[in-house]
Formats: sequence, structure tokens, C-alpha cells
Amino acid sequence: MADGGKVVCVTGASGYIASWIVKLLLQRGYTVRATVRDPLDAKKTEHLLALEGAKERLKLFKADLMDEGSFEQAIQGCEAVFHTASPVTFTVTDYQVELIDPAVKGTLNVLGTCTKVSSVKRVVMTSSMAAVLFPVTPLGPDYLVDESCFSDPNVCSDKKLWYVVSKTLAEDEAWRFAKENGIDLVVINPGLVLGPLLQPSLNFSVSLIADLIKDKNDTVNKNSRLVDVRDVALAHIKAYETPSANGRYIIEGPIVTINDIEKIVHEFFPELNLVDKNEASEIIPVIYKLSVEKAKSLGIEFTPTEATLRDTILSLKEKCLV
Ligand SMILES: NC(=O)c1ccc[n+]([C@@H]2O[C@H](COP(=O)([O-])OP(=O)(O)OC[C@H]3O[C@@H](n4cnc5c(N)ncnc54)[C@H](OP(=O)(O)O)[C@@H]3O)[C@@H](O)[C@H]2O)c1
Repeated sequence: MADGGKVVCVTGASGYIASWIVKLLLQRGYTVRATVRDPLDAKKTEHLLALEGAKERLKLFKADLMDEGSFEQAIQGCEAVFHTASPVTFTVTDYQVELIDPAVKGTLNVLGTCTKVSSVKRVVMTSSMAAVLFPVTPLGPDYLVDESCFSDPNVCSDKKLWYVVSKTLAEDEAWRFAKENGIDLVVINPGLVLGPLLQPSLNFSVSLIADLIKDKNDTVNKNSRLVDVRDVALAHIKAYETPSANGRYIIEGPIVTINDIEKIVHEFFPELNLVDKNEASEIIPVIYKLSVEKAKSLGIEFTPTEATLRDTILSLKEKCLV
């Protein structure tokens, strides 16, 4: 046990990435306070309670991003807060209510509580490449994307990419609030996250692969970039454990083509014919140069894309989700 006794909080703990953060934290000996919207909802909590070490060192707390002060009980006495909760969807009827308010006001709600709780030494927030990839000058093959690259909220709004707007505004507000209130904030910016699921149901990013297999996806991108959920979870923890960690950390992989993905899907579903149906519809741009040196400096060794895809499909089959 590397860090026995240290108490930390994970917000939105039942989610795909957060569940892996909780698992790795428990493995490393931490005591984890996990916030969920409904601690009595077994579908959201059973997989967490079944984790190794959970019986002794995991406690669930009820909290909602839109409920001011609801994170206070969970954060009280914690040394670190991993703020991961945020709605993840590209289809909404009211983007302000469903995406932007919970992302932005929710982040300020969590950070506001952190300023009141003197035990909190660092906040690690899950942002996204969405908050990186839409600068004023559009990306291109020679554009080097690194941690200095910020999405422009107006650019994302003009494209009506409301999830992208929500993540961009939430990160912008987090930096502003942290600076004004002396919070030690570190931000993780993952690309499309894939890999095995711990939770029993599909989350948005993994559903893209499930839909592909179920032949439901008619906007298959010709190219993608993806990153393994286990690497993303570890990056969050290293960002807390490394005293010198600071600023943002981009974590995403090299470009994979639909043919690369098809090759791996075929190992499991030889009869499937994945057609590149919509070559032009890359919602998130992928053609740019990428620097992940900063994430590597945390000691992250990137899982090869093929292994991530294989493990995603194995997990989907195991959980009867395809
Ligand atoms: N997956 C990716 O490809 C990816 C890439 C980059 C960044 N991210 C970021 O990573 C974080 C986690 O995403 P994920 O992929 O793990 O998705 P997820 O499984 O959908 O997790 C999202 C979590 O946020 C919680 N949440 C949503 N609205 C909430 C509210 N009003 N109050 C409290 N909790 C709320 C959800 O709770 P319920 O379970 O109750 O709905 C869920 O636990 C998000 O911040 C997302 O933007 C994800």
C-alpha cells in the first residue's frame, strides 16, 4: 500500500473514467469518497462496491452538480479531489440546461467547496481534448497541438458543438476560479477514451464502438485518435501524486484509420462489414501534429491502440453489450 490512509474524493464516480480512477486509487491504498447522484441505485454503484478494497476503504456520497453545496460532506477531510463528473452526450434538446450548466456551474460548485475545506491540497479535473482542438486558427497537418492550445468558445458555439462548448467553458472557468482563489489545479485533457468497462452499461465513447459493431453507426469517421481508459485514470492519479505536476496534460493517441479498427473488429466478428459511410463528417478534428511529452513526463506509458480496441471489444462481449 503506497498511500494507506490518504483520503481523496472522486466526483461522478459511477462513470466510465471515474470508475477506473476509483479502482486504481483503491489498489494504491487510498481511502476513497465517491460521489454519485443516487447511492441507492445498484446499477450505478454495485461495480464500485465490488472493487478490491472497497469494503474497507470506499464510501459513497450523494451529490449533484446542480445542487449547491452537495459535495461538501464528501470533500470534507480529503487531500485531493478528482473532479470528473460532467454530462457526456452529443444529443440534447436544451444544451444550456443539459450540458453547459452542469459542466460550468457544477465545476464552480465543486471548486467552491474545495476553497472552504482546508484539507484539500490539489484538485485534478477531467477536461477534454474538446477544450483544446477548436482554436481560432483551424488545425491542419502542420499545426502542433500541445498544452498551450485552447478551444475558443465562440468557434465551438458557431459549430453548435454544445458538448465541446461545455467542456471549453468549464475548463476556462476552472482556471479563472483556481487562480482567483489559490487552488492548486491540474487538468487532464483526454481524447476519445476507450478500453474495458467496469460499469454495467454503455457510456458515450464506448457506445461508438458498440454501435459500429451493431452496424448502427452511420457517421463512422475515416480517422480517429483514441486513448486507453486505464492510461487516462493513471494520469489523473499521477497528476496528484507528482508534486511538480502543473497546468494541463494532453493524453491521446496516434491516428487510427477505420481500416485499422475494422481489422481488429474482424478478429471477433469476421462476418461484419464495416463501411466508411461518411468520410467527411469528422466532428472532432484529428489531422494535426500532437505532443504528449508532458503526459509521458508523469510516467504514463501509452497502451498500444490495438490492445485498447481488443480489450474494448472483449469487455463489450463479456458484458453482453454487443
Ligand atoms: N469518454 C471520453 O471519451 C472522454 C474524453 C474526454 C473527456 N471526458 C470527460 O471525462 C469525464 C467522465 O466522462 P465518461 O466518459 O466517464 O462519461 P460517463 O460515464 O457518462 O460519466 C459522466 C459522469 O458524470 C456524472 N454526471 C453527469 N451529470 C451530473 C450531475 N448533474 N451531477 C452529478 N454527476 C453528474 C454522471 O453521473 P450519472 O452516472 O448519474 O449520470 C457520470 O458519473 C467527463 O468530464 C467527460 O467530459 C471523457
